[in-house]
Amino acid sequence: MQIYRSALLRFTPEGQPLYDEDGLLAVARTPDGRARVQAAGSWAALAPAYAGLPVQHFPGRLIAPGFVDLHIHFPQTDVIGAPADGLLPWLENYTFPHEQRFCDGPYAAAVADFFLQELLRNGVTTALAFATSHPASVDALMAAAQKAQMRLVTGKVLQDRHSPDGVRDATEQSLLDTEALIQRWHGVDRLGYAITPRFAPTSSVAQLRGAGELAARYPDVWVQSHVAENLDEVRWVRELFPDARSYLSVYGDFGLLRERAVYAHCIHLDAEDRALMRDSGTAAAVSPTSNLFLGSGFFDYASAQEAGFKYGLASDVGAGTSFSPFRTMLAAYAVGREGQTKRGLSLSPADLWWQHTGGAAAAMGLAGVVGNLLPGCEADFVVIDPGATPMLARKTQAARNLDELLFALIVLGDDRLIEQTVISQAK
Ligand code: GUN
Ligand code: ZN
Repeated sequence: MQIYRSALLRFTPEGQPLYDEDGLLAVARTPDGRARVQAAGSWAALAPAYAGLPVQHFPGRLIAPGFVDLHIHFPQTDVIGAPADGLLPWLENYTFPHEQRFCDGPYAAAVADFFLQELLRNGVTTALAFATSHPASVDALMAAAQKAQMRLVTGKVLQDRHSPDGVRDATEQSLLDTEALIQRWHGVDRLGYAITPRFAPTSSVAQLRGAGELAARYPDVWVQSHVAENLDEVRWVRELFPDARSYLSVYGDFGLLRERAVYAHCIHLDAEDRALMRDSGTAAAVSPTSNLFLGSGFFDYASAQEAGFKYGLASDVGAGTSFSPFRTMLAAYAVGREGQTKRGLSLSPADLWWQHTGGAAAAMGLAGVVGNLLPGCEADFVVIDPGATPMLARKTQAARNLDELLFALIVLGDDRLIEQTVISQAK
């Protein structure tokens, strides 16, 4: 049993914030050996039940759930900041050439180590990550995450057309590789596998069909891809799939929209697409720093909320410009406000925070597992120093309520806020 004393943030299962200025977090091992939250609440109410146990006290700090990054590319760690005239030139000129390097297992392993350290340094404890088309890249990231005891989901990218030598895979082999990787890694410790067609333009009909068949055969395996990010991309999909009702419906036609399917971007959707997202249980990974960097467009929060489909926040590194959830939440706020191309709204700081923790976990089908600190959740959390910089100290000390405190952290924060990242340990 481990008792922590600190200010404490967590959420109701519906996403309402719960906050104790003087809080207690009790973490205990469950019979499977995993450290889980046993109790969370106010110190005054809970401390008597734990009298006599040693306490780790973090005065002036805030304990909050570890962040969940709903969409990130580990092989694009070194692609951050590559300028291009939009998505398709960015892929062709920077990303595909760089990803070729991940056929080399030791190279992939070295990047995987750095990548996970960077996630943890930024307070991200769970990620749904793309690897590359090379099975060795999946082995590298899975092995590194297993060693770090992180809950991480990744998969081999499927891309058998419109891709250069070095990243293009072969249809049949790509599906065999995917199934072998599912059997090797899915459900091992805290790891999960995601069937990962890159996006509709780079997969043949046969590859998409095979991916859909695997998605049906392995219903608790994730699916991840990209959709409706960029107008040139949308036009290209219309040419390649002239019979499909929309870009999103291409994936639906192949059985790739379902629970545990997460699609990055979801910007250029219509009302029928949004209903399809909701009805199929598919989630959107909202990637605001990426969409601003590549000039892709603005996620329509008002329409997403009206339609009632699941969504959460994602860095989308390396089109995204930061590993820091604080940078992503701030960009999401600005994207929400944008009111020229869609309805603008003001997302509350607690809602932004939820979208990057419990909301992102729920979008992945991991509600009550990670992204929150309610009893039963795996004990992945961050210790935040609200005084990490002079400006942060000034603003957070002046905060009169939780909204003001969280907004100050979101607007001014980055990796300097994360004093410690704690991963739920096994025996
Ligand atoms: N669409 C297809 N591949 C990619 C990628 O690697 N990054 C982004 N942002 N969009 C994509
Ligand atoms: Zn992406």
